[in-house]
Amino acid sequence: MGLIETFHITQRERTERITFIHLRPEDLALLGELQPLMEKYVDAIVEAFYVELLGHSEPRSFFAEESTLRRVKAGQRAYLLSLFSDELDDAHFELRLRIGQVHERIGLPLKWYVSSMANFFERIVTVIEFQAGLPSERLLTAVLALNKMMNLDLQLALESYASLSARVRSLGQQLQSTTAALNQAVKADKQNDE
Ligand code: HEM
Repeated sequence: MGLIETFHITQRERTERITFIHLRPEDLALLGELQPLMEKYVDAIVEAFYVELLGHSEPRSFFAEESTLRRVKAGQRAYLLSLFSDELDDAHFELRLRIGQVHERIGLPLKWYVSSMANFFERIVTVIEFQAGLPSERLLTAVLALNKMMNLDLQLALESYASLSARVRSLGQQLQSTTAALNQAVKADKQNDE
């Protein structure tokens, strides 16, 4: 079973979310048009982001291995480019949910995840502003469209983050009550023996 099913991100659910944030077909088309530009700048964006991120000790602690950093940069690159695809298919939603789970699993504090989205947003907007050569009205549409796409992603990432936490909490509670019941049984057993 895919994560889409696990999280009940049905077609109806997707349509409702997309409609409510006013993510229109023309927004997707404009982002799609900007993909070649992003292809050109994505590596520079990712590199600059990691220079800044790794200047902070808490996020740095997640990258003890050089190979992890290389892998994550490649994943990050693919994620950023996928913001500029004009199709919101199953794979698009799966990726977002998986990204949320990965960070929950490694215990990345939420503030770093959420603030990274804002950091990337500004970097991308700067590229679009200075390199896309769009008239101001189209520029505004592009910026708003990107904001909508990232908001959609944030919703999904936070949901998969939160649900995993809830599952871990509930497993912890189950473990506690099982341990308590076991202790009771051992105690009762001992009393019977005496
Ligand atoms: C906009 C926010 C972020 C996005 C979109 C993102 C994206 C991704 C993706 C796509 C992967 C999977 C890479 C793979 O295929 O293996 C990944 C893994 C990872 N990310 Fe992020 N990331 C974000 C923020 C962060 C931050 C702020 C940190 C650290 C402070 C971080 C640390 C990691 C680590 C350590 C892994 C590897 C986990 C593992 O497989 O062991 N990420 N991220």
